[in-house]
Amino acid sequence: MTEPMNLKEMIRLFPGFDGATDGRDEYLGEDGLLYCSKCRTPKQSRFEVGGESLLVGHVCRCRAEQLDREEQEEKRRRQQRRVQLWRAEGLRDARWHAHRFEGDDRRDPNASAACRRYAERFDSMLESGCGLLIYGQVGCGKTYLAAAIANALLEEGRYVLMDTLPGLTARLGANFGAEREHWLGKIARAHLLILDDFGVERGTDYAMEQAYEVVNARYRAARPLIVTTNLSLSQLMQEQDLARRRLCDRVRERCLPLCVSGPSRRPQIARGLWERAGDVMGG
Ligand SMILES: Nc1ncnc2c1ncn2[C@@H]1O[C@H](COP(=O)(O)OP(=O)(O)O)[C@@H](O)[C@H]1O
Ligand SMILES: [Mg+2]
Ligand SMILES: [Zn+2]
Repeated sequence: MTEPMNLKEMIRLFPGFDGATDGRDEYLGEDGLLYCSKCRTPKQSRFEVGGESLLVGHVCRCRAEQLDREEQEEKRRRQQRRVQLWRAEGLRDARWHAHRFEGDDRRDPNASAACRRYAERFDSMLESGCGLLIYGQVGCGKTYLAAAIANALLEEGRYVLMDTLPGLTARLGANFGAEREHWLGKIARAHLLILDDFGVERGTDYAMEQAYEVVNARYRAARPLIVTTNLSLSQLMQEQDLARRRLCDRVRERCLPLCVSGPSRRPQIARGLWERAGDVMGG
């Protein structure tokens, strides 16, 4: 058993150790090593080098655990910041930010379950490039469910772009330039692209050309695409106009049809508003 080392000796052997024991957080053990008073594990190790005893300082167990926790916490904060940034950039309409599966009233339980499954199994959807064609009456909750998928995936660190076709072509901006390339790249590479209200736009040739460029960039990247539409499947299949037909063909090839049924929620929402207005105005 070696003699306990005195502080002077320790300072000589280990220059990093300044001997500033405050008498509360650490103490000198019987083996001559400095210990943490909280977790009672050593803050030093002794090595024999060429017959000389060398002390090397390190953190005790509780400090190491605390540093770990701080690192995890910092990582979590960084991830949260990234999710917020990506949500702000990727989901054009701020109302979509609040559409979550947690708030889903499951008025159409089958559609809700299918969308949840889609988000849960997104790895294999990404691998196969399989998307969804969410169709149904106006106001039945197509946009809500698509945005719920978007938010679930964002929380898992996926990059999701959700926009309307006109919105996306506006992002593409001018015909040439870095901005355009930047957004075409994102359209192709985003983990998931969601086109909301597909098919309502009856645009100019130029607008159709832009729309086709967006859908085709995605198609060629073979990554999943979700579209929501008020058009029926047969309307989508019987599109006469050639330019629109090309668009619809690509969508149908890559997207599994999913019908959201049930009455529109919009009249109910309007009724709610009228009732509240009635209350305010005294019945
Ligand atoms: N699953 C749901 N849970 C709760 N509210 C919903 C749900 N689906 C839709 N809503 C609400 O009903 C309204 C219409 O839904 P929306 O998704 O815009 O319909 P659609 O896209 O089919 O026209 C929105 O105000 C939305 O917030
Ligand atoms: Mg909608
Ligand atoms: Zn400790």
